[in-house]
Amino acid sequence: MRMYDLIMKKRSGEKLSTEEINFIIDGYIKGDIPDYQVSALMMAIYFQKMNKRETKDLTMAMVNSGDTVDLSKINGVKVDKHSTGGVGDTTTLILAPIVAAAGVPVAKMSGRGLGHTGGTIDKLESFKGFSVEMTVEKFIENVNNIKIAIGGQTSNLAPADKKLYALRDVTATVENLSLIASSIMSKKIAAGADAIVLDVKTGSGAFMKDEDASFELASEMVDIGTSVGKNTIAVITEMDQPLGHAVGNILEVKEAINTLKGQGPEDLEELCLTLGSHMLILGNAAKDTDEAREKLEKIISSGEGLKKLKELITAQGGNSDYVDDLSLFEAPKIIEPVNSGCAGYVKNIKADDIGLAALVLGAGRETKISEIDLSVGIILHKKIGDYVEMGEPIATIYANDEDKKSKAEEIIQKAYKFSSEKVTKSKLIKGIVTKEGINKYR
Ligand code: URA
Ligand code: CA
Repeated sequence: MRMYDLIMKKRSGEKLSTEEINFIIDGYIKGDIPDYQVSALMMAIYFQKMNKRETKDLTMAMVNSGDTVDLSKINGVKVDKHSTGGVGDTTTLILAPIVAAAGVPVAKMSGRGLGHTGGTIDKLESFKGFSVEMTVEKFIENVNNIKIAIGGQTSNLAPADKKLYALRDVTATVENLSLIASSIMSKKIAAGADAIVLDVKTGSGAFMKDEDASFELASEMVDIGTSVGKNTIAVITEMDQPLGHAVGNILEVKEAINTLKGQGPEDLEELCLTLGSHMLILGNAAKDTDEAREKLEKIISSGEGLKKLKELITAQGGNSDYVDDLSLFEAPKIIEPVNSGCAGYVKNIKADDIGLAALVLGAGRETKISEIDLSVGIILHKKIGDYVEMGEPIATIYANDEDKKSKAEEIIQKAYKFSSEKVTKSKLIKGIVTKEGINKYR
């Protein structure tokens, strides 16, 4: 087999066989096939597309390029959740304990990663002493005993995806649905999930801006999961503004705690109940969304979700007193409001820019070795549809550096778009995609 012929074949719109796809991924990982040939192939795929069988083959070739996590010693159906982008992913901190409290095992391998704010692990480390360092045996034991454990990522999951994604990033070949879907699904499948709930974001702050394209991406991912025997469903959710109010590590942890107390922002709670319901159904803990939702609402109102979060923190060496006394969390030196430069109804809030402001404050990592400041971030006081007077605070900045604060303030001012007319909020949940098909809500 020659790579040249395979590039030519795809360029002319033919299908690549399973063997050919395996040859490409294997050769690429070994270094036998150079970047320039793989980039040419990616460009050919970008224009000629791949069918479902090719997409599934590419996914599995990437899964098989590295290690897979074996969770078979954990009792029950392991349901994982994945959100496609978005700013400040507070949902995991809420979903993991409520789903575990409902009896569905949560065996989460999380990364630190690059981003506007830290990953789930960084956030949990704001509980003094919390650690993800443990043996695989301990990890499994914890999930079997208390239904929940958060581990650090094994470095060698889907290495072919890591290499390919980096190459696509610099060759303008990211935006192909089959390539995106296989990239995301290869990581989830390698992480050992039995079933997967996807939260596919759509809108101005999402990686997929167009709603129809988001539904198509969701379908591609559900098809992949289903074809490899993993029950998969996708919820399409709006991202025209950041979710909840908090962006930043400790700020998001506090928001998660408040949500577990039943005092969270409405949109964040709604999203968690929706995603959580599907996790319960896939995990055999409820027969339909009505039953699942009722269970989860009860878990929140009875305090069982909050108790589960404390159990997780304690089991992994952290101080769970913080949950009952939020003043124990480290606070930054500067806490200042951002006052609106104009009056009107909030039309949208560019989530990417709010994320960037958080990054500028030091809440996230720009490079793998950057240090994160857990205490800094932003609280948004005004969201889409709210009326704002000139000079009224739209947000509060939490910072440890005056210059960074000023830069963040400028970005936040620009991120808010106003309208003189009343603005109606659009629906948060746009629809779902299951193996039976697409269901768009109206
Ligand atoms: N996220 C991924 O993990 N992969 C893509 O290709 C795009 C977004
Ligand atoms: Ca948030």
